[in-house]
Amino acid sequence: MRGIIVVTFLILQSLVVSSSPSPPDFNFFYWVTYWPGAICDSQKGCCPPPRGNTASDFMIHGLWPQFNNGTWPAFCDQTNLFDISKVSDLVNKMEKKWTEWGVWTCPSNETNLWEHEWNKHGTCVQTVFDQHSYFLTNLKFRQKLNFLNILKQKGIKPDGGLYGLDEIKNAIKRKIGFAPGIECNEDVKGTKQLFQIYLCLDNYAKEFVECPYVPDKSCASKIKFPKFPQKDSLGETLSVISSV
Ligand SMILES: *[C@@H]1O[C@H](CO)[C@@H](O)[C@H](O)[C@H]1NC(C)=O
Ligand SMILES: *[C@@H]1O[C@H](CO)[C@@H](O)[C@H](O)[C@H]1NC(C)=O
Repeated sequence: MRGIIVVTFLILQSLVVSSSPSPPDFNFFYWVTYWPGAICDSQKGCCPPPRGNTASDFMIHGLWPQFNNGTWPAFCDQTNLFDISKVSDLVNKMEKKWTEWGVWTCPSNETNLWEHEWNKHGTCVQTVFDQHSYFLTNLKFRQKLNFLNILKQKGIKPDGGLYGLDEIKNAIKRKIGFAPGIECNEDVKGTKQLFQIYLCLDNYAKEFVECPYVPDKSCASKIKFPKFPQKDSLGETLSVISSV
């Protein structure tokens, strides 16, 4: 009898040990931030954030799992969709650094962006993050990296001027050790401009890594760094929105 109990215990113990968390089933992450000025002066226009405490700064877009071959998993779990009550302690910070300027939805509603990021990308990384740690990790990287300062130290400012794409990449590389990917869009005159910055992280989102697949998108060798949307033009945009 005692023998059977001991054997049963050993079997149960080995089951517990073998069910340790499975490793991530993707290869790396892109962590993506965007410059609101490049949305507001493009043909798509912009919708300013609904609340007034947004910083005049780069905004988080999201943390996206990637495969080495340039594809990515998406919308992996319909049973654990975005629930704002799981991140209620983070909402204040998210409103400042993760707001929606309206390429994705208009009128802007940052809740929609957060919901989209978790439902599309976050649900595919549940071997690494739950909803709270997914949003917190994005905020931590944003806090760690002040892109405006990093670029300003090399004389690169959001003044509507043209800057070398390599200068921009090198300024960021000096800070994190790896070159970022840069995505450009166009202003109304067709000038290529700084829109999104992609940094690559290992598949636990702990360390920056060399990008296995470089997400360089449609830039020129010199690109515009558009101004942050001005209060005056925001006022006009706001009154247009509120009148429809
Ligand atoms: C890319 O890699 C993933 C993961 O290994 C695989 O599931 C997918 O089929 C691959 N896609 C292409 C186009 O090779
Ligand atoms: C924002 O989006 C959320 C989620 O879709 C919705 O519940 C909420 O009513 C929206 N708020 C506004 C002001 O549109």
